[in-house]
Amino acid sequence: MAHPYSARSRAIEPFHVMALLARANELQAAGHDVIHLEIGEPDFTTAAPIVEAGQAALTAGHTRYTAARGLPALREAIAGFYAQRYGVTVDPGRILITPGGSGALLLASSLLVDPGKHWLLADPGYPCNRHFLRLVEGGAQLVPVGPEVNYQLTAELVDRHWDQDTVGALVASPANPTGTVLSRDDLASLSKATRERNGHLVVDEIYHGLTYGMDAPSVLEVDDSAFVLNSFSKYFGMTGWRLGWLVAPPEAVADLEKLAQNLYISAPSMAQHAALACFEPDTLAIFEQRRAEFARRRDYLLPALRELGFRIAVEPQGAFYLYADISAFGGDAFAFCQHFLETEHLAFTPGLDFGRHLAGHHVRFAYTQSLPRLEEAVQRIARGLRSWRG
Ligand SMILES: Cc1ncc(COP(=O)(O)O)c(C=O)c1O
Repeated sequence: MAHPYSARSRAIEPFHVMALLARANELQAAGHDVIHLEIGEPDFTTAAPIVEAGQAALTAGHTRYTAARGLPALREAIAGFYAQRYGVTVDPGRILITPGGSGALLLASSLLVDPGKHWLLADPGYPCNRHFLRLVEGGAQLVPVGPEVNYQLTAELVDRHWDQDTVGALVASPANPTGTVLSRDDLASLSKATRERNGHLVVDEIYHGLTYGMDAPSVLEVDDSAFVLNSFSKYFGMTGWRLGWLVAPPEAVADLEKLAQNLYISAPSMAQHAALACFEPDTLAIFEQRRAEFARRRDYLLPALRELGFRIAVEPQGAFYLYADISAFGGDAFAFCQHFLETEHLAFTPGLDFGRHLAGHHVRFAYTQSLPRLEEAVQRIARGLRSWRG
């Protein structure tokens, strides 16, 4: 008999929502009008100036590898963006362009984690983080967090959970699935707590730009030695182009470059050329219109769900998710999602995809649909709750 596949691959869980998605697609193929609130990507297609820049790049023959660190012009444009948006100076030499934020996570975990070592992560949180750590034979130490700490790691939690095998902490601001944001003070105290223990602080800023009524501070405003993951997927609306970046301390760049060369050679060159258009004022204006649209959706859906009896303990300030407690209705979150899919043709994500701590009685709604579709979804939720026997 052939050897079994690797233990590391067996340890990785699929997205539980995929089973629901497969069923949603079946229902759709049978002619039902399914509303998708499970999908973690903007419903808007990529903005026209970026598409045009991508087409021009293809015509000009930019179809080959780039340098492993990425196009110098794009790294400079990102550095300019840090100066303009956050007032921080970032040397373009510290920026590596990656295949999505996922590529940045792969580089950071490969660089920072030895076998048996781990990072502290918030539970609930983005599930792939712990899987990346497993792939490098390290691990995640999941720290249960609730509304009392804004669903985020704090310096106090870092102190309490740090052990001899901990080498860092990864936080996301805004976070998936809760949409909560870390303040500058929160970031400064997390930075202090990790530095005091000679650990690394990794901050996922992938949902930056998608905050409502406020701007999220970057950890680089308070800690130049932090590792920052970012992406063109969410605010810049380029999920399918697979493009992101990592900002690293200067002394880490050569090792990261070596990893990038070996792991993926370079990020997609067409996407990199296209992304140069992101930083033009006209394109930024499109992103800002979309951000305003997400704010309108949140401002509609949040009170509508609360009125129906969902508990959303902390007002999410960013991303495009609402993480809702269904305890008032009884029953298990996965069964709850199945019920709404079968009876109302409405898809959303069970808490199980984001950890264990609150998983059984939480679900995530993504407001990645138009307002009229969200209104229709709320009607379906109201109706579906009447037939739910939790
Ligand atoms: C918190 C978080 N980090 C990272 C990613 C990875 O996204 P990408 O690889 O498209 O940049 C996602 C995607 O949903 C996410 O929610």
